[in-house]
Amino acid sequence: MQSEEVLPVCLSPSVMAQKTVLVTGCSSGIGLALAVKMATDEQKRFKVYATMRNLAKKDNLIEAAGGTLGNTLEVKQLDVCSEESIRMCISSIPDRRIDILVSNAGIGLIGPIECQTIEEMQKVMDTNFFGLVRLLKEVLPDMKKRKSGHIVIISSVMGIQGILFNDVYAASKFAVEGFCESLAIQALKFKLHLTLVEPGPVVTEFEKKVFEDGMKMDLSAADEETADMFVNIYLKNYKQIFQTLGQAAEDIAEIILAENPPFRHQTNSLYAPITTLKYADPSGDLPIDTFYKMVFQHNKIFNASLNFIKLLRWRSRKSLDLGESSFQ
Ligand SMILES: NC(=O)c1ccc[n+]([C@@H]2O[C@H](COP(=O)([O-])OP(=O)(O)OC[C@H]3O[C@@H](n4cnc5c(N)ncnc54)[C@H](OP(=O)(O)O)[C@@H]3O)[C@@H](O)[C@H]2O)c1
Repeated sequence: MQSEEVLPVCLSPSVMAQKTVLVTGCSSGIGLALAVKMATDEQKRFKVYATMRNLAKKDNLIEAAGGTLGNTLEVKQLDVCSEESIRMCISSIPDRRIDILVSNAGIGLIGPIECQTIEEMQKVMDTNFFGLVRLLKEVLPDMKKRKSGHIVIISSVMGIQGILFNDVYAASKFAVEGFCESLAIQALKFKLHLTLVEPGPVVTEFEKKVFEDGMKMDLSAADEETADMFVNIYLKNYKQIFQTLGQAAEDIAEIILAENPPFRHQTNSLYAPITTLKYADPSGDLPIDTFYKMVFQHNKIFNASLNFIKLLRWRSRKSLDLGESSFQ
């Protein structure tokens, strides 16, 4: 994304007072990139409370944010699975004032459901869905009283369209989307705005953790065909999909800062055809049929398309690099 397309954030230009921002899950990835982007803003428009569940992981963030700690950046402990931790964190913020809340913390889970425990699945729902609910129970009443606030939720394209072997993760993001769709109507009455950010693959720790867990998964509870599908189709293509279609966490951070973001914002235009299928056929058959054919019948074409996209992206990056250097 070109920087000139990006204008100041959720801010009307006339309001120049520093906005208080709270971001969850800032130990790595999108949360870290966003906290750094906002804390290092040249016009110092933000006071960023970058939170993480384990403060022992704060060094990468502090280093990436340069000398902003104690000025535009504060680092605080917040575990979205603990009401007590959320309450303590919010209560430690002056006047409990949060102008922009970014609900980013999340975890993934892949694989056949017969090989996952209910506890593992509950942890995904507890983090990705109830984590957001817990945050809002604490932050929303203050925002309502002030009649101002922006809530940004890092959802996923999987909040719109499920993808093979992501059953529970997609369910957690669908839950987030349904919750926000309902809440947005009430929120508007209080002049509050919600934005669902829906990235496709983003190259972060998430990708590595999920892949490693998938590789280590005990597949003995699955039948041979399902286990083979997971290992030889899903895991085999996993890295290739991230390499080809993946965005950088910094790009997502930049997009979140766009002016007047809509309620739903997909960050990766390469995913638009997939989500469009969903809206094109209310019966739901079209996306399922297309995915089925793409994975099981036309996988060679699918792989060739990925390689083609990879080549196009490489060429466009190369021409951008050349363009940049010609101005130097
Ligand atoms: N990467 C992708 O491809 C992708 C695509 C679409 C959407 N997303 C969404 O983007 C968000 C950020 O993911 P990411 O890609 O930046 O992954 P990441 O690098 O793994 O970051 C996830 C962050 O969430 C934190 N977290 C996990 N459980 C938490 C809890 N109980 N309380 C507080 N923080 C917790 C992690 O902390 P620890 O370091 O302590 O684990 C980490 O800081 C997630 O909601 C994810 O679902 C990611």
